[in-house]
Amino acid sequence: MKFRTHKCGELSIDNIKDSVILSGWVHSIRTHGKITFIDLRDRYGLVQLVFESEPLTLITKKISLEDVITIEGKVSEREDSLKNPNLSTGSIEIFVNSCEIINSTKPLPLSIHDRESSSEEHRLKYRYLELRNKSLQNNLIIRHQTTQVVRNYLSKLDFIEIETPILMKSTPEGARDYLVPSRVHKGKFYALPQSPQMYKQLFMISGLDKYFQIVKCFRDEDLRSDRQPEFTQIDLEMSFIDESEVMKTVENLLSEVFEKTISYKFQSPFPSLSYREAISKYGTDKPDLRFGIELFDFSPFGKKSNFESFKSTEYVSGMIISNKNDFFTRKQLSELDIIAQNDGAKGVAWMKYDGQKFDGGISKFFDSDLQNEIIKNFNLKDSSILLFIGDSFDKASKILGKIRIDLGHKLDLIKRDIYAPVWIKDFPLFEWDNQKKKFDSVNHPFTAPKDEDIKLLENKPEDALSKGYDIVINGYEVGGGSIRIHNSEIQSKIFQILNLSENEINEKFGFFVDALSYGAPSHGGIAFGLDRLVMLLSGSDNIRDVIAFPKTTSASALMEDAPSEVDESQLDDLGIKIKN
Ligand code: AMO
Repeated sequence: MKFRTHKCGELSIDNIKDSVILSGWVHSIRTHGKITFIDLRDRYGLVQLVFESEPLTLITKKISLEDVITIEGKVSEREDSLKNPNLSTGSIEIFVNSCEIINSTKPLPLSIHDRESSSEEHRLKYRYLELRNKSLQNNLIIRHQTTQVVRNYLSKLDFIEIETPILMKSTPEGARDYLVPSRVHKGKFYALPQSPQMYKQLFMISGLDKYFQIVKCFRDEDLRSDRQPEFTQIDLEMSFIDESEVMKTVENLLSEVFEKTISYKFQSPFPSLSYREAISKYGTDKPDLRFGIELFDFSPFGKKSNFESFKSTEYVSGMIISNKNDFFTRKQLSELDIIAQNDGAKGVAWMKYDGQKFDGGISKFFDSDLQNEIIKNFNLKDSSILLFIGDSFDKASKILGKIRIDLGHKLDLIKRDIYAPVWIKDFPLFEWDNQKKKFDSVNHPFTAPKDEDIKLLENKPEDALSKGYDIVINGYEVGGGSIRIHNSEIQSKIFQILNLSENEINEKFGFFVDALSYGAPSHGGIAFGLDRLVMLLSGSDNIRDVIAFPKTTSASALMEDAPSEVDESQLDDLGIKIKN
């Protein structure tokens, strides 16, 4: 039996009078008098079938939505008044001559076309049905196009795609590892890679010069709407390059991806901000630049005021919003207080400026000279509100940055149809973990310090900046990378600063430090989160919408019910006993 001569979505006026065989799912059924219309669906689209007379119309009585059928029929032009301009096949219909039900369906557990009508847990249980939904299929198609563009583009630039092991050694890299017990070596474990970081650097030492891979990575960390326990990276590494060369390659690659998948053209070069600038102006190292409100340092004015809390605090971060004073009712201001208090601030201080004078909030603590100074300095316009948080530089800026985003949404300031990329550079090399009383790498331990900061490693490592860079689009960190350390002594020094003993360095990273001493070239690279990139390309804000079979936020696979218990005999093979 032949199942199809054409796909449902590809038929047009050019096929008029053609005899066609089509197969697909029954998308809708309508009966008008003696005639029955069925929209038949496949991945390529919908086409209207017309069942005109008995015995064909009798068959349609046995057909339900989502049954799979095969029909043979003739393509005919619709009357002008019945053409549907919203459908690619809207100018034609198929007059059916024969119809066979290939498979009828049980009642469906969910609505395929109205995803919101079932809970996400329920949809994930029947994900294979949910994936019949057009918008999810589109997301997977964009994902496929993205990987195709990446492969073609990088291959043309002499990058070669090389696979790296999935069963590797557990090394501390930031998140918790997923471990795989070894049967042959009882009591020992492999780890699933958090990223192929060391392998790709080893490729550079091997002289492979330019590597890429579209690779699964695994991290056992707290999940959010843009994080999955297993996710995919577009991973790159290059030899004999500096930061600007990697960044140029990345900009060109992203421009190619956005243009080829969704016909979006970026303006080049992408803007960049130092880490410190990003925190002080946007309160985050993942700024959303689709709207322009910036934070500023209000500390000098706070110090001169009579507001005790600002006089004594380390830093006052401020923000001005114009022409929205009506929005800032007591209720709205107390909602902002809650955001601030949830993050440990006392609240948000404010004052309104209208009719060329300040009013309300903390304005009474600013005498008229100081008020005039503020008006002049910030070139204040009537109907503005000034919002402030006083605390440490980091805390004040980060909390006001959260409020900036909250207001961006509430006041509808975010331009929806643009992509705003920005590079974040000049990260600190280390951050102090106050609980563990030790330094952590801000990026990862293989990131090179700036040349001029190598001297700080000995006595002031906290002041050293790194050769790391992140690419952020619309507030999402889409990629991150760095120029690497290629000198084994500096690499060992970094491990020492991270409080690893000589023994730990040898045990965990000995092979790698050793490899750096056999003629390692200068090198660097980056990795993109493919899932996050596709999420942006498809206009979604949920990473699970661009992954075929995603995990829930508690890392469960609801369809096949993983993780699950295993047979006692499997545990015995592995020498594992479960503690209760
Ligand atoms: P990093 O840890 O910054 O760098 O990861 C690179 C990019 O991967 C994405 N990403 C994630 N996406 C979904 N779910 C997650 N749990 C998740 N974690 C990270 C982000 C991020 O920007 N080896 C280095 C790269 C390098 O230095 O070249 C690395 O993995 O988009």
